[in-house]
Amino acid sequence: MENISIAIDGPASSGKSTVAKLLASDFNFIYVDTGAMYRAVTFLAIKHQVAFSDETALAELTKKYPITFKQSGHGQLVFVNDEEVTEAIRQPDVTAAVSEVSAHGMVREELVEAQRQLAQTGGIVMDGRDIGTTVLPQAEVKIFLVASVEERAQRRYKENQAKGIQMDFETIKEAIAKRDYLDSHREVSPLIQAEDAELVDTTGMSIEQVVTKIKGIIEAKG
Ligand code: C5P
Repeated sequence: MENISIAIDGPASSGKSTVAKLLASDFNFIYVDTGAMYRAVTFLAIKHQVAFSDETALAELTKKYPITFKQSGHGQLVFVNDEEVTEAIRQPDVTAAVSEVSAHGMVREELVEAQRQLAQTGGIVMDGRDIGTTVLPQAEVKIFLVASVEERAQRRYKENQAKGIQMDFETIKEAIAKRDYLDSHREVSPLIQAEDAELVDTTGMSIEQVVTKIKGIIEAKG
């Protein structure tokens, strides 16, 4: 596989990161989880007691603390400065606030620039909300991954159970729906399918089926 860029966007818990990781590993590409970067800024805001509404202060935090990824035997680890935050950024307090933080244009400017730098070499699979529309509009392959909110909540519920996070199904479903609403209705780079993205509805599909389908789309693009 030549060094193309693959953009995978879609709503919360649609399976983007699972599928993106598998594709990156199969093609020996770099995987960039842009949601982890917005989560890392939200983590910093909580840690440094910066209000989620304070755009300037949040942008300052984003500039001050570089976010990096490192591969380990246990998958990809996320760091802010030298602090490992892989698990911390998945906690409910971060998830509940991340859409407010990510709506700020100044925060997005900083992170989009960092994301483009990471993608410079090509050979990349990047997942998020605005990759096909804003971060890498020239990406050779764009996928918009969706699934019913019921099924996405079910997946998240199982993931939470495995991680020991206690949250009931209805609460998870409401939180996902709220995050999708906020992400799709913000002014700057809202979650939206790029005109040239392929829609893949994963409801009722296994991960293997989704990966096979996307590989078919990639091959068809030649
Ligand atoms: O992908 P994940 O669910 O971890 O993303 C967390 C949040 O980060 C999203 O709900 C959204 O608010 C924000 N995000 C974004 N743009 C991206 C990736 C994530 O606004 N490219």
